[in-house]
Amino acid sequence: MKTILSSLDGMHQKVIDALHEGILFCDRKGIIRIINKCYANLLGGDVLSFLGKPIEDVNPPTRAYIVMENGKEETADLCTLPLFGNEYKFVVNRIPVKDGDAVVGMISHILFTDPSDIDSLNSKISSLYKKMHEYEVQHENNQSFSELIGNSPKMLEVKALIKRYAHEPHPVLVQGKTGTGKELVARALHNMGDRKKKPFVSINCAAIPEHLLEAELFGYAAGAFSGAQRQGKQGLIELANGGTLFLDEIGDMPLVAQVKLLRVLEEKKLTRVGAVKEVQVDFRLITATNKNLEKMIEENLFREDLFYRINALSIILPPLSERGDDIIDISRHILTKINFHGDITTEALEALLRYDWPGNVRQLFNSLAFAALHCTNKQIGAKDLPAHITGDLPSKEKTQCRTRLNDFIQQEERQFLINEVRKHSGNISAVARSLGISRVTLYSKLKKYKITTS
Ligand SMILES: Nc1ncnc2c1ncn2[C@@H]1O[C@H](COP(=O)(O)OP(=O)(O)OP(=O)(O)O)[C@@H](O)[C@H]1O
Ligand SMILES: [Mg+2]
Repeated sequence: MKTILSSLDGMHQKVIDALHEGILFCDRKGIIRIINKCYANLLGGDVLSFLGKPIEDVNPPTRAYIVMENGKEETADLCTLPLFGNEYKFVVNRIPVKDGDAVVGMISHILFTDPSDIDSLNSKISSLYKKMHEYEVQHENNQSFSELIGNSPKMLEVKALIKRYAHEPHPVLVQGKTGTGKELVARALHNMGDRKKKPFVSINCAAIPEHLLEAELFGYAAGAFSGAQRQGKQGLIELANGGTLFLDEIGDMPLVAQVKLLRVLEEKKLTRVGAVKEVQVDFRLITATNKNLEKMIEENLFREDLFYRINALSIILPPLSERGDDIIDISRHILTKINFHGDITTEALEALLRYDWPGNVRQLFNSLAFAALHCTNKQIGAKDLPAHITGDLPSKEKTQCRTRLNDFIQQEERQFLINEVRKHSGNISAVARSLGISRVTLYSKLKKYKITTS
């Protein structure tokens, strides 16, 4: 014990002085017993000037006593030391030294002591972060389009429009009943377009009180009104600069704000509330509504000139009930999204197919989340769905539903088999083995679906 508490002999001191990392040992009373050249340099002195001093004299916020008290190692912590007139951050390990169960001192071990090492490490970390962020954005970009599930003719049309419009600079109006996916489409348009790396600013005109909407959208000048921030505030349109502004529920925008928005769209400039100076803005506008804007124009609730401006390009989302078997694909997608790893019975799928979904995909989402919570044995049956969805049906309609479902299942099975045959280059034994069925069964399925193996 005595040897640890005294400073090192000449040879040992030379060894630790050769290190490019800082080493300091203080005893249980906090007296510095060992310190190497590198650590001493960091503290702005030489080895001898620190030996025998209490650690709090050289580093007042020291954690040495806490570490010795707890007996627990602290690794890769950050400490700040004043150096060359600047504050530098270092990575430090604090390691209690024990003799049996008793803590007899603490080693402070500083890594990356050369500020240029830290700078280069910092810049490496920042560039990695940047790359990671880019990948995340890319992943998200691809995601929002791929999250639009459905291959019904109507959805294929919508997807084709998104791809075509994504690169256009003109405003897009997305219309559709509640829950049909208007916001998802707006994000897909942004994420597939040239502005994808710039902000996507979304604002729900119905959710902001009328008297605040203008200030939120256009921002306000210093001292514009009582209660406003003293230095003024940037509006959401300015925040969307370079990117996309998504005005959701545009039908709920008050007429006064409509006039102002029209001016911004025409002049590409805006004036903050209470300001004189104009600010140049550049954004792509996407709007959405579930209201009939033409009818609102007749009732003088929506400005006709604004309507033509925002409706340069139009996407109309079909209600879920018109998307046929998309319901099955979307249901499976939703179940995966909510981490449900079980099954859904044919009866439950039939019930979903025959319901007319006034709340569209959002209602389907909520109904499946409800069912996933209420089902037993990890299988969603018709009984697990909200009661209003499983109302009794005339038997003719039931049969129609079953036929649609069977058709769907058969199509899926056919496609699956084609893929498997391709994967195994037409080798029947290999396909049968990989599917775990007999060759006879496989042959009869291939015959049924008219699949050839050549
Ligand atoms: N085609 C689709 N495939 C998968 N999920 C979808 C699809 N369309 C919508 N959704 C999902 O349904 C939910 C509602 O979609 P979204 O919020 O985009 O609808 P909305 O039309 O904006 O509704 P509202 O008019 O009520 O604002 C979201 O969870 C969305 O991810
Ligand atoms: Mg919406």
